[in-house]
Amino acid sequence: MDPGNKRARFDKPDNWNASLNGKSIMPYNMAAVRGPIPNGPMHQRPLIALLDGRDCSVEMPILKDVATVAFCDAQSTQEIHEKVLNEAVGALMWHTITLNKEDLEKFKSLRVIVRIGSGHDNIDAKAAGELGIAVCNVPGYGVEEVADSTMCLILNLYRRTYWLANMVREGKKINGPEQLREAAQGSARIRGDTLGIVGLGRVGTAVALRAKIFGFNVIFYDPYLTDGIEKALGITRVYTLQDLLFQSDCVTLHCNLNEHNHHLINDYTIKQMRPVKVNSQNPGEFGNGASKGAFLINTARGGLVDELALAAALKEGRIRAAALDVHESEPFSMANSVLKDCPNLICTPHSAFYSDQSVSELREMAAGEIRRAIIGRIPESLRNCVNKEYFQSSNIRYPFPATVYPDSVNGPAYAFNPAAAAAVAMGVHSTTLDTHPAVVQHTHNTPHSTPHSTPHSTLPDSGNHMAKAESSEAHLWLPSL
Ligand SMILES: NC(=O)c1ccc[n+]([C@@H]2O[C@H](COP(=O)([O-])OP(=O)(O)OC[C@H]3O[C@@H](n4cnc5c(N)ncnc54)[C@H](O)[C@@H]3O)[C@@H](O)[C@H]2O)c1
Repeated sequence: MDPGNKRARFDKPDNWNASLNGKSIMPYNMAAVRGPIPNGPMHQRPLIALLDGRDCSVEMPILKDVATVAFCDAQSTQEIHEKVLNEAVGALMWHTITLNKEDLEKFKSLRVIVRIGSGHDNIDAKAAGELGIAVCNVPGYGVEEVADSTMCLILNLYRRTYWLANMVREGKKINGPEQLREAAQGSARIRGDTLGIVGLGRVGTAVALRAKIFGFNVIFYDPYLTDGIEKALGITRVYTLQDLLFQSDCVTLHCNLNEHNHHLINDYTIKQMRPVKVNSQNPGEFGNGASKGAFLINTARGGLVDELALAAALKEGRIRAAALDVHESEPFSMANSVLKDCPNLICTPHSAFYSDQSVSELREMAAGEIRRAIIGRIPESLRNCVNKEYFQSSNIRYPFPATVYPDSVNGPAYAFNPAAAAAVAMGVHSTTLDTHPAVVQHTHNTPHSTPHSTPHSTLPDSGNHMAKAESSEAHLWLPSL
């Protein structure tokens, strides 16, 4: 696909070309010393691009007084318009595009990437940091939804609701206790079973709290946590994955995917899970040391599970049943997956985080982070920068141009003014989106200079953004498909 063929769908600002050669764009060989985002009355309004989506209806009201917002609807950087590659200072992205070092190098002006989500394994955060690009995520937005979805999957595996409901839908009539026994075979009691949580972060903790109420004996493995959390939550800590797998009737994954845990669940570790043990006296009975094997749930990241090994274990009955919301390859297609003929498997399409409320919240929080990057300093003003340690020191101590903001907000005195620094620090940790009216007033003398003052507002998501692009803030780019 030739990015040069892509069309600008909406009007260009009069001074668009000026910005290409003007001071707002740094020569690429200085990429590693990218400073703050040029902004304010002396500068071209910065360009922010949604890389892998079309709908900016939530983001637009939050950003329109400080930025031009474009969308790319791309699945790879080859599909991104070269104007965006050259000029975008900020990028918003879902998880359907990957940015490795080579991709990142194509962006000539980029200062900040915000993942609209919590996992950021689709961005090479180290390479980004070395290029002077901050990578941020939105960690807290859908914790309750993912935990509730996880419980929903666990309950379906234990109570077989999904399969029983499908039988009814397919017209099966259950007549009498024998037929019910046959149809509901494998349904199990939760109380007293052991749930093993791998990764006790935000979601893992929320699952632990819920699972206790259902009567699970909850254990967890998380080598990165300090001692004591188990006491606070009234759950049991184990110190090796092997111990967790050995003790658990049901294993649920909630760790982030990193360079150390790819295929954490593989052929070898599956063999450490509770084995199928038949009661030799009465093969139909479970009890007296007999076990039907363990359940496995993954709502974390697809790369944590070797799907080939899982498929073999499900087919051979070594794993009792599994539920996966995330997959090694996404978007997931059952027809093309090694899992396609597996029994006792429920797959959902990476939807665990989704609720109407969580997605609005997520998008508002992501746009809020971009806004902080534009009107504040990178990375200090960012709330959830995940690659600070890779920034070169020259990137993180770069004062704002004196002409942009009054000294009292973040002009040259800002870096040396403890009171101003404290005020900004408070803003960084506030729970609402920044309005920074003083900044906004000085940013534009246009009818669009009204600060965003409705931090928790959500606009109806029309899904058709063309109709919404009535203002000059919307500069939308369509890939040539
Ligand atoms: N399915 C979805 O829709 C969805 C939505 C949001 C988040 N997620 C995923 O859920 C997971 C948890 O999210 P979170 O916000 O709770 O993350 P988090 O960062 O709060 O917690 C992750 C925890 O995993 C631990 N961990 C890392 N490697 C580990 C390992 N090898 N073994 C055991 N523990 C390990 C970390 O110490 C941390 O405590 C992430 O993978 C995230 O990408 C999925």
